[in-house]
Amino acid sequence: MPAFDLLIRNARAVTASDIFYCDIAVKDGQIVQLGRDLPSAAMEIDAAGRYVTPGGVDAHCHLDQPEAPPIKMADDFFTGTLSAACGGSTTVIPFAAQQKGQSLRAAVEDYHRRAGNQAHIDYAFHLIVSDPTPTVLGEELPALIREGYTSFKIYMTYDSLKLNDGQILDVLSVAREHGAMVMIHAENADCIEWLTQRLEASGKTAPRYHAHARPMLVEREATHRAIALGELVDVPILIVHVSGSDAVEQIRWARAHGLNVFAETCPQYLFLSAEDLGLDDSYGGARCVCSPPPRSKANQQVIWQGLADGLFTVFSSDHAPFRFEGEDGKKPGNKEQPFRHIPNGIPGLETRMALLWSEGVMAGLITPQKFVELTATNPAKTYGLHPRKGSLSIGADADLVIWDEREFVLTNSMLHHNVDYTPYEGMRLSAWPGLTLSRGEVVWDGMTFTGKPGAGQFLKRGLPTLLPRRCK
Ligand code: URP
Ligand code: ZN
Ligand code: ZN
Repeated sequence: MPAFDLLIRNARAVTASDIFYCDIAVKDGQIVQLGRDLPSAAMEIDAAGRYVTPGGVDAHCHLDQPEAPPIKMADDFFTGTLSAACGGSTTVIPFAAQQKGQSLRAAVEDYHRRAGNQAHIDYAFHLIVSDPTPTVLGEELPALIREGYTSFKIYMTYDSLKLNDGQILDVLSVAREHGAMVMIHAENADCIEWLTQRLEASGKTAPRYHAHARPMLVEREATHRAIALGELVDVPILIVHVSGSDAVEQIRWARAHGLNVFAETCPQYLFLSAEDLGLDDSYGGARCVCSPPPRSKANQQVIWQGLADGLFTVFSSDHAPFRFEGEDGKKPGNKEQPFRHIPNGIPGLETRMALLWSEGVMAGLITPQKFVELTATNPAKTYGLHPRKGSLSIGADADLVIWDEREFVLTNSMLHHNVDYTPYEGMRLSAWPGLTLSRGEVVWDGMTFTGKPGAGQFLKRGLPTLLPRRCK
C-alpha cells in the first residue's frame, strides 16, 4: 500500500518566506511530508521544477448576495467557486450581509442556505453589519464571533449599508472586546451624494462620471476618519479595496504612528484606470464601474509600490459579478441608466492570481514569496484560517497551485464565471495555474474543471493571527 495518496515531485515550492526544491506528499487531504526522493504514492504528478504555491485565499468576494430586483449577482456558490478554482484560489470568503431591520443571525442562516451544497472549494463568511442594534452588538455579534465568524465589514457609504461614526465606534468596540477583525469600506457618503447631485443637475450621468462623483479625496477623508475611529477604540482595522495614493498616504501615516492599520488592494487598481469608465458618454464603461473607482494610470504605480514594500497586507479580487447585457446587471431593467443606478462591482475571482503572478512576479515587480504572502498566507492569517489555509507546510490542507508560464491573450471565453465580460479582455499574460488542488483533489488540470459541487466545506474560523494576542 503506497505511503501517500498523492505526491508532487520536483516542485519549486514557494512560501511567504522561502523558495526550495522538494517533493510534496499528501495524505487524507493534508500535506504530510516535504522532502527529497520521497517514496511512491497512489498518484504522482511531476511538477518538473515549476513553481508550486499555496492555493489562493480570496478574502473579499461577493457571491449570490441579495440585491434589489431586478438586479442579481451573476455568480452564486456554484459558479463562483468553480471559477475561483480554475484561477488558482482554493478558499473564498464572501459576505453574509445583514439588511437593515434584519437580524444578523437570519442573514447568516440565509447565506448558508444559498451556499447549500454548491461550493466546489472551501469557504467561510464575513458578516456585513448594516444595523448595529443593541441586540446585534450585545448578543448576536459576540455569539457569531465565538461560532467562527471572526470578521465583519462595515460601510461608510451606500444608503442601505452605511453606518455613522457613533455606530462605527460601537462595532469597533465589539471587535476589540472579542478580538475580531473589522474591514472598512472607506468613502465619504455625503460628499459622494453632494457631487452626484451636482453632476446630475448638469446632465453628467454617463458611466465615466461615476469617477467624478468619487474622487480620491472622498476616500482619503473616510480613510483618515476610519483610522482615527480605530485609534480611539484602540483596535486593529483593515481598510478594504484601497484604490489610490491619497488613501495610501493616510495608511502610511497611521503605520508610522504605530497604529495597527491593515490594507487590502485589488487587481482593478493595478490594471484599470478612470479611462476604462469611458472617454466619452458611451455606456460600455459601465463594465468597470466599481467603488472606489479606478484612478489615473500614474496611480497604478503607487499601488504596485505598496504591494512591494509591505503597505498592503492582502490582495483580493472584490469580485462583485454583474452581467453587462440583460435586465439584472449593469443595465437594470434592460436600460442604460445614470451612473448612480449602475450596480457597483466587477468580476475578478478567476483572474486575480494569474494577473499578479504574470504582471507582478514575472515582470519582476514583486517576489514569488510576496505573491504568496499577499494572495494566501496573509489573508489566511488576517481572517483566522492559518496555518490550515494559505500555507505550504506539514499539516496544512493540500491546497496547491502548479504554475504554467506561457504567453496567451486573456479572453472572457476562457473563464468560468457567469459574467458576460472580463475587464481584462485582450490582456497579454504570461502565466496561468496549470493545476489546482483542493485538499489533495485535482479540481483544475489546466484545461478542464474536475471538481464537484458540495466538495467545498464551510470553514469555522479562529481569531486573526497577524498580531500577537492582546493581553486583557
Ligand atoms: O464596487 C464594489 N466594490 N462593489 C462591491 C461592494 C463593495 O463595496 O465591496
Ligand atoms: Zn466595499
Ligand atoms: Zn466588495
